[in-house]
Amino acid sequence: MGALKLCILASEMMPFAKTGGLADVAGALVREFGSLGHDVRAFMPLYRSVRSGPWEFSEVPAVSAVAMAIGDARYEFSLRSAVRSGSDRPVYFVDCPRMFDRGAVYTNDADEYRRFLLFTRAVIESCRRLGFAPDIFHCNDWHTALLPLLLKSDYAGNRLFLDSRTVLTIHNIGYQGIMPAAAAGALGLAPGDARFDAADMAHGVINALKTGIRCADAVTTVSPTYAREILAEPLGMGMQDALRARADGVTGILNGVDYDQWDPRHDPYLSVHFGAGDWDGKAANKRALLAASGLESDPAVPLIGMVSRLTEQKGLDLLYEALPSFLERRNCAFAILGDGEARYVQFFESLTREFPGRVGFHCGYDEAKAHAIEAGSDAFLMPSRYEPCGLNQMYSLRYGTIPIVHKTGGLADSVVHFDSATGIGTGCVFNDYDAAAVAWALNTAADWFADARVWRRLMRNAMGEDFSWGRRIAEYDTLFRRVAGAR
Ligand code: ADP
Ligand code: GLC
Repeated sequence: MGALKLCILASEMMPFAKTGGLADVAGALVREFGSLGHDVRAFMPLYRSVRSGPWEFSEVPAVSAVAMAIGDARYEFSLRSAVRSGSDRPVYFVDCPRMFDRGAVYTNDADEYRRFLLFTRAVIESCRRLGFAPDIFHCNDWHTALLPLLLKSDYAGNRLFLDSRTVLTIHNIGYQGIMPAAAAGALGLAPGDARFDAADMAHGVINALKTGIRCADAVTTVSPTYAREILAEPLGMGMQDALRARADGVTGILNGVDYDQWDPRHDPYLSVHFGAGDWDGKAANKRALLAASGLESDPAVPLIGMVSRLTEQKGLDLLYEALPSFLERRNCAFAILGDGEARYVQFFESLTREFPGRVGFHCGYDEAKAHAIEAGSDAFLMPSRYEPCGLNQMYSLRYGTIPIVHKTGGLADSVVHFDSATGIGTGCVFNDYDAAAVAWALNTAADWFADARVWRRLMRNAMGEDFSWGRRIAEYDTLFRRVAGAR
């Protein structure tokens, strides 16, 4: 089989829109599959923030002012395209201002499920009008998880897609896309259709992610450990039975890192670059971060960074207890960047008041600051309750910024606990999900830091790791070819 025709759909994609790692990964998949020689068509919604961005959009005449009904409501969409720098392939944008001209990428609006249902149907409809018959439709997370069903219902009679197959990648099982059972009609099916989960239907809901798991030709997730964890509670979060019912299971493929963006030797956001062994360069970045964060400047004090969506997933509840007592006992500093739930914002703000000069908190989304924290911190804390893959721990390794992580999902697959007797290992890994384990990990890392020889060994180990996309994309390629070939 030669080159594949791939249609990749995602609700966010770098460099156009990003709220988390999905954007980095979707953007990387499009680039990497393209460089393997596949014919890749990528689709995302034209959000307000994208429309007002620095992109030049072109009309796509074949897909203009297309009427689309979802239940009783009527919508209209057009397709636009834009080319990202360094690429010769356009990315397609579904332009439906009624749905996507809103203040945020994701909303709590009552029609949230309709926004992504419209997007997903618009992608299929666009492929039809463009005469593009993908070998694989690659869906990502709940937003696009209804595509496999739509191909088998609304579009079942369409000859163009007769040979198309579907792959669903789960980036985060905590978001499932719950919609009222009445949405069945909008999906072209009767509520009693066997493709819906009967128990969900009895409760009056359709679960987009579960429907995708039941209907897709293959299901993947973003690390081998998470692929095992989601087969049972608690981390299956209700999806475990649907996953276990699949004869082919769920394949875990670890995400890769875009080292063009995330490598201290040429990071576009840093003014001082450094590599392994260049401890002066690392120290200069630490000084810059301390100054920018309003922290006391003492190189002997370990500086711990965090960059995170502030949600329950990220293990922040453990810090209520662990951080104040750790800060009281040990001379450490924290540089924290994040945005999200108010209770966590308040907690970090109160920490900055309680420990002035030792805790810096920047509330908001700031790409440059994220890079500065990776480069300038000594260690990086990710106490996630669960983590499908996680990117920042892999970024941290390359910056010699030692990850302190909970042993779960992709964190378990990318960080090896350091053994000072053998000198092997790349970070500090704690097993139990509780405040005492976080405190233990922070203290252990601080002890290692106090011994410059040990710490430099750890930094060298970390910086020698390689999580580039090459191997990962080969795994996707093998899977896609298998799925496409099995028809
Ligand atoms: P998740 O997708 O669950 O948020 P990941 O670790 O996969 O977790 O990816 C998070 C990505 O989002 C990283 O690239 C990280 O640098 C970025 N990020 C998260 N919060 C912020 C923020 N407040 N400002 C800038 N970048 C952020
Ligand atoms: C999700 C997960 C994160 C993963 C990212 C990209 O948002 O929370 O662990 O790295 O998707 O796959």
